Amino acid sequence: MQPVIEVQNLSKTYASGFKALKHVDLQIRRGEIFALLGPNGAGKTTLISIICGIVNPSEGVVTVDGHDIVRDYRAARSRIGLVPQELTTDAFETVWATVTFSRGLFGKSANPAHIEKVLRSLYLWDKKDSKILALSGGMKRRVMIAKALSHEPTVLFLDEPTAGVDVELRQEMWNVVRSLSDSGVTIILTTHYIEEAELMADRVGVINDGELALVEEKNALMRKLGKKQLSLELHEPIPAVPPVLEGYGLELGSDGSELIYTYDSQAERTGITTLLGQLQQAGITFKDLHTTQSSLEEIFVSLVRRPGAAAPAPRPPGPQEAALQYDAEKT
Ligand SMILES: Nc1ncnc2c1ncn2[C@@H]1O[C@H](COP(=O)(O)OP(=O)(O)OP(=O)(O)O)[C@@H](O)[C@H]1O
Ligand SMILES: [Mg+2]
Repeated sequence: MQPVIEVQNLSKTYASGFKALKHVDLQIRRGEIFALLGPNGAGKTTLISIICGIVNPSEGVVTVDGHDIVRDYRAARSRIGLVPQELTTDAFETVWATVTFSRGLFGKSANPAHIEKVLRSLYLWDKKDSKILALSGGMKRRVMIAKALSHEPTVLFLDEPTAGVDVELRQEMWNVVRSLSDSGVTIILTTHYIEEAELMADRVGVINDGELALVEEKNALMRKLGKKQLSLELHEPIPAVPPVLEGYGLELGSDGSELIYTYDSQAERTGITTLLGQLQQAGITFKDLHTTQSSLEEIFVSLVRRPGAAAPAPRPPGPQEAALQYDAEKT
């Protein structure tokens, strides 16, 4: 299938002489959720702005649905919805008016039924006559999405949709994005939150210093990173791993008071249940345990690490740490 967006050898040098993009090649597949990860200043907004026709490329070709973004600007642009990084709406307009007006900007004839559908899908229908200034932050963000969808685009760009928003609102945004994706819209989102990419994306791209450092299926990436560690904090330190436990490849840490078991979280059997049974037989008791999983975050950090910078600190315990029950189910 022809990609919905094709970026070839795209470079951008700003008037200041700054090279914000360097020979970027990227294809976006129809219907996917693509997450573009990268640190501040990596070039994410520049890339999006070029595809959306807001910034001129210095070199390279971009097509949207087969339409060249420079030669065939209108056709390319009409297929794209953009929710920009900076929220901008007219505070004194009503939701209905502002979304309807956005559609008009694309020269599309009025279609109240479509606007209604968009507002309903974003849970804004009961707010359609409210002025924007009277809406909560989360509602305002949804209005931005409604505006971007007003002209029935096939591709939606969300530039940092959840930057600086609280956990609840972030989850609300994720639900909105998922349902848009289910309705067939191709979604490209930029984020600093690796967790967001892990959770939402079909594919992940990492951009650093104007270069696309990696593009990969998220699942494939996660499989490569599927190793997990179980750490057991022992009641009493032990001098060495007992011979009966040799088969597990255990490591002994923290002066003998921590046992670390590394296993493949994707495997049918993780071996945890039998390990815990054998520990008990060997009379080794533990007071606490936790699991850690290598993650996108680690690759991300290693990819964007600046030359000479210190190695990343181990991942702190976080939401990635699945409860032990999860593993026990698979043992
Ligand atoms: N109009 C401009 N003129 C000159 N340099 C610019 C301009 N716009 C962006 N840049 C520079 O290009 C680089 C990439 O900026 P861009 O906004 O694309 O980064 P980003 O990945 O979106 O960052 P963030 O995560 O902070 O949003 C930055 O170094 C930025 O300072
Ligand atoms: Mg940006």
